[in-house]
Amino acid sequence: MSRAKMGTSLACIKCPGKYPLDKIRYRCECGGLLEVERDLSKLDPSKLLKTWEKRWRSKRGVDASGVWRYREFILDIPEDMIISKEEGNTRLYDGGKAARFAGINKFMLKHEGENPTGSFKDRGMTCGISAAKMLQAKTVACASTGNTSASMAAYASTADMKSLIFIPEGKIAYGKLAQALAYGGKTLQIDGNFDAAMDLVQKICSELDIYLLNSINPFRIEGQKAICFEILQQLDWTSPDWIVIPGGNLGNNSAFSKALMELHGLGIIKKIPKIAVIQAEGANPLYRMWSYGSKFAPVKNPDTIATAIKIGNPVSWEKSMKGIKWSSGTVEQVSEQEIMDAKAMVDSAGIGAEPASCCSVAGARKLVDKGVISKDDFVVGILTGNMMKDPDSVIGYHTNKLEGVKGNFANAPIKVKADVESVKKILLS
Ligand code: F0G
Repeated sequence: MSRAKMGTSLACIKCPGKYPLDKIRYRCECGGLLEVERDLSKLDPSKLLKTWEKRWRSKRGVDASGVWRYREFILDIPEDMIISKEEGNTRLYDGGKAARFAGINKFMLKHEGENPTGSFKDRGMTCGISAAKMLQAKTVACASTGNTSASMAAYASTADMKSLIFIPEGKIAYGKLAQALAYGGKTLQIDGNFDAAMDLVQKICSELDIYLLNSINPFRIEGQKAICFEILQQLDWTSPDWIVIPGGNLGNNSAFSKALMELHGLGIIKKIPKIAVIQAEGANPLYRMWSYGSKFAPVKNPDTIATAIKIGNPVSWEKSMKGIKWSSGTVEQVSEQEIMDAKAMVDSAGIGAEPASCCSVAGARKLVDKGVISKDDFVVGILTGNMMKDPDSVIGYHTNKLEGVKGNFANAPIKVKADVESVKKILLS
């Protein structure tokens, strides 16, 4: 019997259904999503805090991972089963120019693009792949807008597993496609969007007995909780007023609320930060539900320059909604122009992030304008992916070549003859 079974189970979010951890399962018999439920009552919070501080001083190995440092809340498996790249340990920057743009005095940006494959997905993937090993999976699969596939391919290669990737053809950022191919993932470009790929991968996984590593997989969510743990540890366990985060398939913000519930339940944090989820206007099913009070309905042809979150039928909308309500948070949407202008600010602050990430800054600014966030609130924004994932969007913006988006803060390259006089003319004019 694996140690993972002790006091832990997969619990349905909709009914009392419970399942053991050592059987592959993503949904309850009733169709509801599953989440890892663990008995935290035996944990001593003050001892935990000391252990986590000590582990953060480790130079190598599992303790040096910004996910496994918190392993009491991640997955209880023997160390030799853990596939880790010492992920996490990402910086929490002062927002600088981006904070001033948003109109917030204390706005910090947690840069998850500093993970080993350049996105927050590595946090969930180290846990997901380790679970795959525990469950003796040989092949893993995912549908992806790019980052999940890059991360899965890298971790699967490290674990000596095969990886199978479904991506929407021609619709993912080039840097991410390059990673999937380079890390050795078998990459299938389907003639449909992400939602079609998500649908297809679930069918293929159940027919061919392949382990599914999208965020419908509850172990992915457990790993992603570590973003929240780490932010709070960086802040000496004092909560910000708000955490602002982009939303696509809605796994990440579900992980955040779960992390906060657990920390609050144990008394490690006293105040619950409000979670604000930001969607792109063209891919906004959660925003529609939230603002019109309507039932969930997928957006048929989602479209946005933030290709990472070009998702119309997010699998985790129920978990997400539950968590946002619990935190007294909100949902906002932002336009293409707002995303790219916010990105120009994040980039020129010397921080840099891919378009979807910058929804955090664009959304925070909008919520300040609407009076939902106060300029004196302490806000943490999540930058989910690295700037170099999508250089096309950067060049397009700065050369004013993006359809429907103006390069309001463009910094275009200047052509100049290769002689001193010509250069001086430009510099001194
Ligand atoms: N930001 C980036 C950079 C992403 O890659 C994603 C999701 C999100 C935000 C949204 O997170 O789905 O948990 O709400 N990317 C997935 C992928 C869908 O396939 O890489 P979410």
